[in-house]
Amino acid sequence: MKDLGGKTAVVTGAASGIGRAMAIRWAQAGMNVVLSDVDEVALDVAIAEVSEVGPAAGLPVDVTVGSDVDDLLTFTVDHFDRADLVCNNAGVAGPPGHAPHELTVEDWQWVLDVDLWGVIHGIRTFVPHLLSHGDGHIVNTASQSGLTSGSVISAAYYAAKHAVVAISECQFHDFAERFPAVNVSVLCPGPVATNIMNDELHRPERLKPVLNPTTTDRSDSIGSAMRDVIESGRPPHEVANIVHDAVLNNEFYIFTDPNIIESVAARHRAIEQRGYPPTGRMDADVTGD
Ligand SMILES: NC(=O)c1ccc[n+]([C@@H]2O[C@H](COP(=O)([O-])OP(=O)(O)OC[C@H]3O[C@@H](n4cnc5c(N)ncnc54)[C@H](O)[C@@H]3O)[C@@H](O)[C@H]2O)c1
Repeated sequence: MKDLGGKTAVVTGAASGIGRAMAIRWAQAGMNVVLSDVDEVALDVAIAEVSEVGPAAGLPVDVTVGSDVDDLLTFTVDHFDRADLVCNNAGVAGPPGHAPHELTVEDWQWVLDVDLWGVIHGIRTFVPHLLSHGDGHIVNTASQSGLTSGSVISAAYYAAKHAVVAISECQFHDFAERFPAVNVSVLCPGPVATNIMNDELHRPERLKPVLNPTTTDRSDSIGSAMRDVIESGRPPHEVANIVHDAVLNNEFYIFTDPNIIESVAARHRAIEQRGYPPTGRMDADVTGD
């Protein structure tokens, strides 16, 4: 998209962190903004903040519920006639420092529901709408964990984020072949100073383990090291500026940490050489390797 002014951006997970910063950035670019989030109190604050910059409206949405995301499209069309730029951004980290076999069924379900199904619902609902009016841009938020191998966050998070990269690449090929006026980017941030380490606040009751028997000294210490890494991450407004420029330049892979390229290359070298998976960058940041 070369011209954002007067168009409409929709952002999920817009009440906090990267989503909130993107909502502000789109408003600064002259766009109408539709904010959505499962946290209704924080959402109201974010809507008020974005409204000071430009036209904004918001709807409580749980991205794990397909009908909620369908309602978000209806709400957007009712308010601003159409959606042009869709940021499938809502996400959670899940319990850090657990090996794949240590995650509970509830852990897997929660992280995959939000981080993978949230993006799937956004695509399923909004892409046919973009195609119906003929142009637009989708930004799917993955992570650098979608391009590297690691273990410190959780296997559920890595699995979801790798899947978001894969789905975005499928979309890229489909749009390039059949719908060249619609574009897609995949946002793969490194550490960003957001509230993501407080994500348990948004875990639904039905997926809260009564007692997580697998919390260990290891997961506690990794969790606390990750909190430090996130707190010293990039400010969200810098990430929003990067995404803004990438959308204007129609870039596909969007990075916020230039050093990630070496971790991606190391993983690919290991695959080419039939070696062992190298430690991902977030793992190195947390464990000091
Ligand atoms: N912060 C980082 O270091 C980092 C790094 C890489 C990728 N990311 C990704 O960036 C995205 C945004 O995360 P953030 O860091 O800004 O975290 P954040 O916690 O500050 O914001 C995430 C928002 O998503 C919302 N949310 C959670 N579950 C939801 C649901 N079911 N439906 C709708 N909204 C829901 C939360 O209420 C919150 O407002 C996520 O996809 C995350 O995985 C973050």
